[in-house]
Amino acid sequence: MADHAQDLEAELGRLLDQERFPPPPAFAAAARVTDGTLHAAPGEDVPAWWLEQTREILDWKVEPTVSLDSSKAPFYEWFADGELNVSHNCLDRHVEAGRGEKVAFHWRGEEGEERDVTYAELLADTQRMANALKARGIDKGDVVGIFLPMIPEAAAAMLACARIGAVHNVVFGGFSPGSVRERMEVSEARALITVDQARRKGKTAPIKAALDEVLAAEPLPTLETIFVVRHVGEETPMEQGRDHWLDEAMAAAPAECLAEPLPAEHPLFILYSSGSTAKPKGILHTTGGYLTQAAWTHREVFDLGDDDVWFCSADIGWVTGHSYIVYGPLANGATSVMYEGAPDYPHKGIWWELCERYGVTLFYTAPTAIRACMKWGAEHPREHDLSTLRLLGTVGEPINPKAWLWYHKVIGGERCPIVDTWWQTETGAIMVTTLPGAQDAKPGVAGTPLPGVAVRVLDNEGKEVSTGEQGLLAITDPWPAMLRNLYQDPDRYEETYWSKFGPGTYFVGDAARMDEEGYVSVIGRVDDVINVSGHRLSTAEVESAIVAHPKVAEAAVIGQSDEDSGQAIAAFVTLEGDLEGTDDLVGELREHVATRIGKLARPKRIIWSDDLPKTRSGKIMRRLLRDVAEGRALGDVTTLKDPDVMARLEEQIKTGAVPEED
Ligand code: PRX
Repeated sequence: MADHAQDLEAELGRLLDQERFPPPPAFAAAARVTDGTLHAAPGEDVPAWWLEQTREILDWKVEPTVSLDSSKAPFYEWFADGELNVSHNCLDRHVEAGRGEKVAFHWRGEEGEERDVTYAELLADTQRMANALKARGIDKGDVVGIFLPMIPEAAAAMLACARIGAVHNVVFGGFSPGSVRERMEVSEARALITVDQARRKGKTAPIKAALDEVLAAEPLPTLETIFVVRHVGEETPMEQGRDHWLDEAMAAAPAECLAEPLPAEHPLFILYSSGSTAKPKGILHTTGGYLTQAAWTHREVFDLGDDDVWFCSADIGWVTGHSYIVYGPLANGATSVMYEGAPDYPHKGIWWELCERYGVTLFYTAPTAIRACMKWGAEHPREHDLSTLRLLGTVGEPINPKAWLWYHKVIGGERCPIVDTWWQTETGAIMVTTLPGAQDAKPGVAGTPLPGVAVRVLDNEGKEVSTGEQGLLAITDPWPAMLRNLYQDPDRYEETYWSKFGPGTYFVGDAARMDEEGYVSVIGRVDDVINVSGHRLSTAEVESAIVAHPKVAEAAVIGQSDEDSGQAIAAFVTLEGDLEGTDDLVGELREHVATRIGKLARPKRIIWSDDLPKTRSGKIMRRLLRDVAEGRALGDVTTLKDPDVMARLEEQIKTGAVPEED
């Protein structure tokens, strides 16, 4: 084994010099797109090109005649005179075309259970679920929360909302019950679909009971209905009138439910994501444009064919799950693998076991997961036959070349192209990547803007920077899957995305460089957003959770570079009065953050500090905190109110008085 590992190291070391990887010939020979024609296609009139794409890829009840409408910019509209239904496009049309027996999801439970859900079955479940929602008075435009593990019911719940025009608001399963309550409150959700218990690595968590607790402490009168999926089957408290077992409600509901034709701009979902303040942003996506680009990118970027088996390892609670587990793959009639569990449970080779078991051909994951797999060792994937794989993808954060090469060699057997896809919750769909049969991949470099997407790298004043120079990523023309607004907060929408560079140019929030071939390297966020294992969090959100602890006077949070998770949360904490920082208090604070936000937000490092570096006007200088945490020489500290504070922090870090998470 040791020899194997050394050989692999040596080979990866040799490959590190290879800057570009052309499409593997066998792949390119059968790929959908093999030359630049697709790139040339949009030509001058990009909106007209998108109109053609949407007519081809979706089934419209009323075909749109207009493409982009910028008259209310930045509240752009796409395909506004068209009507369609997302659930019809994802289900009915495939069943009507005789593909009802095709598997939509090969579902695998944590304990090894298997369930194949066909398109016909998913349609039947979706219709009954939609009718169950209707029976509780849910109507067009009402918000429905979804807090579910990775089970087929999660997809059916989203589609059931889409079927009747309700707007779903999915919350990632890793968030705390308090965060779920908050998201239901701010979106005025009328119903919530959740689960009795969730399973994680052999243990169960009483989800419904925990939600009951926060709702009892702070009731939410707007939340009239809670549907509970019977998943683990343990005893679960149910409140008369409000709570209903979903299986019983579905059994009592009529089997057929009309897929309501909806205007293209009808809201499809809200997804709360972190911004630079403590208050999450309710990113709003609508129907026609979103589905067009989710489906189009899923087909073209991943070279989707009829016989492919798709496996996206994301969670449905993130945008990747929305666009590339549910809407893109189902609109394209694809077969997917859905896995309930963690990547290392019941064993560290479970993903590769699933790839072998279901003959996965296209696999999409995050760089942080690849780095974890590298750490666990190549022996896990090598125990499985991965020969069906023909394309690999990554998303969520920059991928370091070494992880890229490991993925290419160990998982892809050097025959699979890798697409490094850059996008955001706001963009709805992939924006920058390579078309795998047509363009060379460059490890660590995302790629070029896709057809129909206009991306530039600008300086602070909005002027394009020179080739190879670092600047701010911007999108200079609207695109169909763009967010339409921040839920009930249009001012914040305009301010966050459209004020930096002026009318028509979308501020991304990432730093980037573009090379002479137009390839974009994404460097990272320029705002106070941190990216931990591809999960987006705001420093302010974590800070406000920490300062809510009675022993804390003040806190500043930064994203520190981290080998495993890309960035890790480090918190500089000043305690009240004469309180001393202890190991017990570190544990208490981490637990406190987990309860308020969720385990994903627990600081990896807590650094006690008597004071924080502040300018004379009281602004905390996080840049200096990052320098000291990452062991860099400190720059200019003369603007600080108390320049000595940095020296004290440096000393504290050097003497090791900083406990780290194990
Ligand atoms: O900083 C970029 C990073 O993730 C941010 C978007 O996060 P979120 O809205 O949670 O969506 C993640 C999944 C689409 C971006 O602003 N990011 C995403 N993909 C990449 C990336 N950074 C570098 N390379 C990528 N491929």
